[in-house]
Amino acid sequence: MSGRTAVITGGASGLGLVMARHLIKAGLNVVLVGRDETRTRAAADSLRGLAAAPRTYTADLEQWSQVRALAAELAADNHLVDVLINNAGAAFPRYEQTTDGVERTYALNHHAPFLLTHGLLAAGALTPQARIITMSSFVERRGKLDTADPDVAGTSWRDGFYHQIKAYSTSKLVSLLATRELAHRLPDGMSVYNANPGMVKGTAFNSNAGGLMRLTAPLFRPFTITPDEGVRTPVLLATASPAPLPSGGFFSRSQPDTPSRLALNDSLARVVYTKTAALLGVEPLTR
Ligand SMILES: NC(=O)c1ccc[n+]([C@@H]2O[C@H](COP(=O)([O-])OP(=O)(O)OC[C@H]3O[C@@H](n4cnc5c(N)ncnc54)[C@H](OP(=O)(O)O)[C@@H]3O)[C@@H](O)[C@H]2O)c1
Repeated sequence: MSGRTAVITGGASGLGLVMARHLIKAGLNVVLVGRDETRTRAAADSLRGLAAAPRTYTADLEQWSQVRALAAELAADNHLVDVLINNAGAAFPRYEQTTDGVERTYALNHHAPFLLTHGLLAAGALTPQARIITMSSFVERRGKLDTADPDVAGTSWRDGFYHQIKAYSTSKLVSLLATRELAHRLPDGMSVYNANPGMVKGTAFNSNAGGLMRLTAPLFRPFTITPDEGVRTPVLLATASPAPLPSGGFFSRSQPDTPSRLALNDSLARVVYTKTAALLGVEPLTR
C-alpha cells in the first residue's frame, strides 16, 4: 500500500476522518477535503501522530463550481489519486435549491461524486488502477424514481411533498445507478464501488440532518454500529489486493451485497448516467 494516495471528501469529521486514520495505518498517503479550512486543518493535525499531517483542501461540495475547482486544484498540485472516496453526504429536512438550481441533497450526494470523479478523470489525475468509492446507504431501497424519466436534479421534490428520508434515499439510489453505468465506461484497470457503512452511531449524520431523521434516530440506536465498524467496508474496498469484484457493485459488511431491484436496472442506469452528465455539462465517458 505504501505510497498510494487516497483523497477523502468529508474528511474533517465523521466517517471520513475515521477512514483517514485507518488508511494511514494501512500505509496510504491521505488527502483530506473539508468544507471549513480551520476545521479541516485541525482534523489533519489530529492525525499527525500516525504520519505527516495530511494535505488539506476546502470546498463546499454542494456548489458545482467548487467541485470543479477542487478537481482542477488536485490535478494542478500533481496529486495522482489511487483511491477517491466520495464520502461527504447529508440529508436535509426541507426542500432547498443550490445556486445551480438543483435540490441540495442531490447536489451533495449525487452531483459532487459524479463531477469530482469525471473532473479527475478528465485531468488525468487518477492512476490506471484507481479505485473510486462512493458512500452509499441501505436506505437506497426506499428510493423513488420514475423509470421512464428519472429526475437526476431532485427538483421534482419541489412540486410534491418533500419527504426527507425519501429524498435522501433517492439521491443515494441515483448515485448508485450512475456508478453502475460508470463501471462499464471506466478504462480497464480502474474500479468503482458503492460502500454501505450500515447504521452508524457517533457521527453527526442524524443530528446534522434534523427533521424526521433526527427525531427517529433514537429508535434505531439498539441496531447501530461504531464508526470503526462502519468504515470497514470502504477501507477494505480501498486496500484489498486484488481489487474486489464486481466493479460497480454495492458492498455491505465488507462483501458484495444485493441492492434494490431498481438499482440493478441496467437501462435505467444508462439513462441516469447520461442525464446526469448532460445536467452537469460533463462529457460522458465512452468505451
Ligand atoms: N452515519 C450513518 O449511519 C450512515 C449510514 C449510511 C450512509 N452514510 C453515509 O456515509 C457518509 C458519511 O456520513 P457520516 O455518518 O460521517 O456523516 P457526518 O458525520 O454528517 O459527516 C458528513 C461529512 O460530509 C461533510 N459535508 C457535509 N456537507 C458538505 C458540503 N456541502 N461540502 C463539503 N462537505 C460537506 C461534513 O462536513 P462538516 O464536518 O463540515 O459537517 C462531514 O465531514 C455520508 O455520505 C452518508 O450519507 C452514513
